[in-house]
Amino acid sequence: MLMPRNRAGARPRALPRRAAQAFASALLAAATVTALSHSAAAADTLGSAAAGKGRYFGTAVAASHLGESAYAATLDREFSAVTPENEMKWDATEPTRNTFSFGAADQIVSHAQSKGMKIRGHTLVWHSQLPSWVSGLSATDLRTAMNNHITQVMQHYKGKIYAWDVVNEAYQDGSSGARRSSPFQDKLGNGFIEEAFRTARTADPDAKLCYNDYNTDGVNAKSNAVYNMVKDFKSRGVPIDCVGFQSHFNSASPVPSDYQANLQRFADLGVDVQITELDIEGSGSAQATSYSNVVKACLAVTRCTGMTVWGITDKYSWRSSGTPLLFDSNYAPKPAYDAVLAALGGSSSGGGDDGGGGDNGGGTGATCTVSFTKTADWNDGYNGQVTVKAGSAPITGWTTTVTFPAGQKVSTLWNGSASWDGSGTVMTVRPTYNGNLAAGASTSFGFTVQKNGNSAVPTVGTCTAS
Ligand code: XIL
Repeated sequence: MLMPRNRAGARPRALPRRAAQAFASALLAAATVTALSHSAAAADTLGSAAAGKGRYFGTAVAASHLGESAYAATLDREFSAVTPENEMKWDATEPTRNTFSFGAADQIVSHAQSKGMKIRGHTLVWHSQLPSWVSGLSATDLRTAMNNHITQVMQHYKGKIYAWDVVNEAYQDGSSGARRSSPFQDKLGNGFIEEAFRTARTADPDAKLCYNDYNTDGVNAKSNAVYNMVKDFKSRGVPIDCVGFQSHFNSASPVPSDYQANLQRFADLGVDVQITELDIEGSGSAQATSYSNVVKACLAVTRCTGMTVWGITDKYSWRSSGTPLLFDSNYAPKPAYDAVLAALGGSSSGGGDDGGGGDNGGGTGATCTVSFTKTADWNDGYNGQVTVKAGSAPITGWTTTVTFPAGQKVSTLWNGSASWDGSGTVMTVRPTYNGNLAAGASTSFGFTVQKNGNSAVPTVGTCTAS
């Protein structure tokens, strides 16, 4: 919805230049003020808000996108943990027997380490993304190859990985509670999981060792089977430290109502639980509510140590068409982002709750008002400005909406950060640098709009202050 789209078009020459100048000077002002106000009140991010609750907030990362500045900037600003999305899988790390290739995964690990992020290792033993040479082995050879793979990969990253998904997706969907057919299951039998965990403990004794799966997010036959396995491991001293709940949701597979209860029953077995691959298809407030419920469930379970979303931006999601992530394709935070931040007790413009309370409400008497002015107008476009004014008390943040007439498209926004509703007509704007206002003081954000044949003016919604 923002800058990259709709920039072309037949506007008169002088006006776009003026808009561009306004944008450039606004950026300059933004940079100056940010520098001045940074130490006074930094906005919370997913990572900082989660840290306030003693949790990490991670994302899956693809090495191939690290060179994209908006991708890296969003990663570095918002997240405190990473999981390589594909780079640590068997086909990437040992494509040929005993020939290991760590280049892409190393890139992610060194990036994460340089930013002080936790790293989840994903994954050592999985039926998928498994090179074909593995499935051709005899049982004896496969056992050697599995243990060698675990040992080599874990030793390469020894001391750097917070938690490893040692075994991924070993159970069938549905009501059987049975194991899934795989080269490991079929040739090594039920004992392969235990063997993998024992090998893993020896390879890197400091990494937490997790079992990870999907469709185990509520109480059901599949999660019962995993539960029984973990219980058995704990009773026999088989090394297991955590269970990962992938949490890939959509309308056919929504967040289960017993999500928290399910996390809790696993935690009660004496393992940590983690939300490992969270994404929820949908948009707007429905998506936001589901995300918020997941975050609240984790926070309510003491041993839920953190949560990871399966990607940063909808643009690169493995199920992109379902727009399941917290940032849209232009890296604008979506309503789901706001909901997650609020559920984590974070403040969207700093200064507020540091994680103690969970209340994201405003300070006493924090109010604001908004007003709209058209600052430039030409054939097929206009510039708008919304002034945000604090009431009789100082404020540390504000949110307001701007609803656009049918067909109009915003091509540029300055001095604010936008997210959009599903229909692309309601823009919710939050501050970038300009959230802190003294009593009675004001700030403004602005935007350039393409009319697309509709000259009506937008309407501003209520201003909410914190
Ligand atoms: C997915 C990746 O996101 C895709 O890029 C890849 O093509 C397939 O795998 N469960 C898992 C993850 O444990 O590794 C999967 O990741 C998604 C489902």
